[in-house]
Amino acid sequence: MIRRVPTAILISGRGSNMAALLEAAAAPDYPAEVRLVLSNRADAAGLAHAASRGIPTTVVESRPFGRDREAFEAAMEAELRAAGVELLALAGFMRVLTEGFVARWQDRLVNVHPSLLPSFRGLDTHARALAAGVRLHGCTVHLVRPGVDEGPIIAQSAVPVLPDDTEASLAARVLAQEHLLYPAALAWLAAGMVRVEGSVARVAAPSGGGALANPLPGLHTLPRTEPER
Ligand code: GAR
Repeated sequence: MIRRVPTAILISGRGSNMAALLEAAAAPDYPAEVRLVLSNRADAAGLAHAASRGIPTTVVESRPFGRDREAFEAAMEAELRAAGVELLALAGFMRVLTEGFVARWQDRLVNVHPSLLPSFRGLDTHARALAAGVRLHGCTVHLVRPGVDEGPIIAQSAVPVLPDDTEASLAARVLAQEHLLYPAALAWLAAGMVRVEGSVARVAAPSGGGALANPLPGLHTLPRTEPER
């Protein structure tokens, strides 16, 4: 029997990456067990989906805390401690975390970002990729460090940028890859297959955490991380 690492998913909105993680983690041999979905917004659509799957949810509204990020994080950590989680997966969680929080969860805090980092940190990544005229775009799953969208890269997936792409068409192509990549990358982390050497994360998987466009050749080395068709 593998040990399943108790995990929380943090969201702020739609929660489609959260849904992909819940789908993967529904398999009994997935190495992370989602114990809690936490949102900093009560109106996050993902909350209802998590609840419909029987996953405990909680809301810690960030707005009432204003600029007091430490107080917001203390409230959030009380919930995370109560749930006994050891791993945090940010899935469209749109709050910048303090250095203290990031340090306390060092190498146990992972994020998905809709670009091939270190290009296009921050917001509006698809519009910026189109404006820059890049031919390849994609998504990254990385360990979180204090700088926004910085940290050792666990896995990336690239997609082509097509001549007639709009922001929406490109976002959809990237999002489909996020939904494949994130469950695989979280599984690697939970299974202890990720080793951090300075600013580089080494992954003990045949693909080493890389994938080019879709489908993701050789990426899914763990059972049951394939999407359902
Ligand atoms: C995703 O595209 C995710 O990569 C992005 O927000 C979206 C959330 O969608 N995250 C960031 O930009 C973090 N810097 P979802 O709620 O449907 O998963």
